[in-house]
Amino acid sequence: MSANGLIMDSPSLMLEKLENIKELDALERVDGCVPFSHQVAGHKNGLNNTGVLQHPDGTILKHLQPPPRGPREMLFYKQVYDKDCTDVRLLVLQKHLPKFYGTWAPRESPHELYLKLENVTRRFLRPCIMDVKIGRRSYDPFASHEKREQQIKKYPLMEEIGFLLLGMRVYQINSESYITYDQLYGRSLGKETVENGLTTFFHNGKDIRRDAISLIISKIKSILRWFESQTQLHFYASSLLLVYEGSAHRVNGMKHRRVETDSQYNHGSLTRSGRTHSEPYCTDLSLSERNINGTRGGSVEDCENVGMKHQKEVGLEEGVEVKMIDFAHVFPSDGPDESYMYGLRNLLSNLEQILKN
Ligand SMILES: Nc1ncnc2c1ncn2[C@@H]1O[C@H](COP(=O)(O)OP(=O)(O)O)[C@@H](O)[C@H]1O
Ligand SMILES: [Mg+2]
Repeated sequence: MSANGLIMDSPSLMLEKLENIKELDALERVDGCVPFSHQVAGHKNGLNNTGVLQHPDGTILKHLQPPPRGPREMLFYKQVYDKDCTDVRLLVLQKHLPKFYGTWAPRESPHELYLKLENVTRRFLRPCIMDVKIGRRSYDPFASHEKREQQIKKYPLMEEIGFLLLGMRVYQINSESYITYDQLYGRSLGKETVENGLTTFFHNGKDIRRDAISLIISKIKSILRWFESQTQLHFYASSLLLVYEGSAHRVNGMKHRRVETDSQYNHGSLTRSGRTHSEPYCTDLSLSERNINGTRGGSVEDCENVGMKHQKEVGLEEGVEVKMIDFAHVFPSDGPDESYMYGLRNLLSNLEQILKN
């Protein structure tokens, strides 16, 4: 991790094996919270610089960034989720955001605020996750000249492409492992190759997951319709979080219950960059059976098979999720957000092109 807390120095591609690594036990837990194992991009700050945390109740905790960014993001969530909100556009927007459960602070340091959010990856057995920054500019209208230059230099093609793959992790069914890509990979992609980057996200080592692409396209279209209907907000440096079920044992419409943090923490794997990636999902297992690849012999396969017996039909769309995240640079406006819509449309046309190939 770099000094400014960004996940930047890791290799752009890492292969993770799903193994038990005991070092994780040594990491300090505060109020039962553990590092969130499915963070694919963003800052690594907050408690022990671990980045996003997972609360024992299954929600995630995002450390409030220094002003004005943190308070701005908090106010945005509060505005959208205000119980007295009557603004139809904001009420519709709620379905495209993680649920917001207010703020949280550790008992020991009550002034250190976190946003308490729905964990979008929670119901997935083997979530494949991509964070895509959307828009033609990553700097807001109030950014200094230096900030603008710095952002443009990071990815000069942002203006033309309208999105940037900030990070992803993709489950490989044959090796039962994840491949992780960081921002350097996304920034290496050009106009002609960005489609390959997207294809990589949907490739499970065997096939391209066309089913997931189709479902994700329809969710992105729904977000685009929201943008076409509103003129009150502009989003800069905001992301879409795309998630699909990577497990080969998935059943369309199957709902998985998540095994909470303790077993997740103890049976994770540690990548070379020191980020934690564990296998926290298991379906309807008793406490004693919760470990995955653990000493009680509960293998991933066992875990998934037991879960099959308890499946619930919940509809095809449950196999994917698309949510808007990261609102440190959202501002009131009086016109459509053309920059964000340009990015969404180009993302959609690249995804549609993959289906045509
Ligand atoms: N609600 C969520 N559910 C699941 N993962 C999330 C959620 N919010 C953020 N993340 C994970 O954390 C990362 C960083 O979140 P983000 O809000 O973009 O923070 P930052 O402001 O540091 O960029 C995302 O790339 C994603 O992997
Ligand atoms: Mg972010």
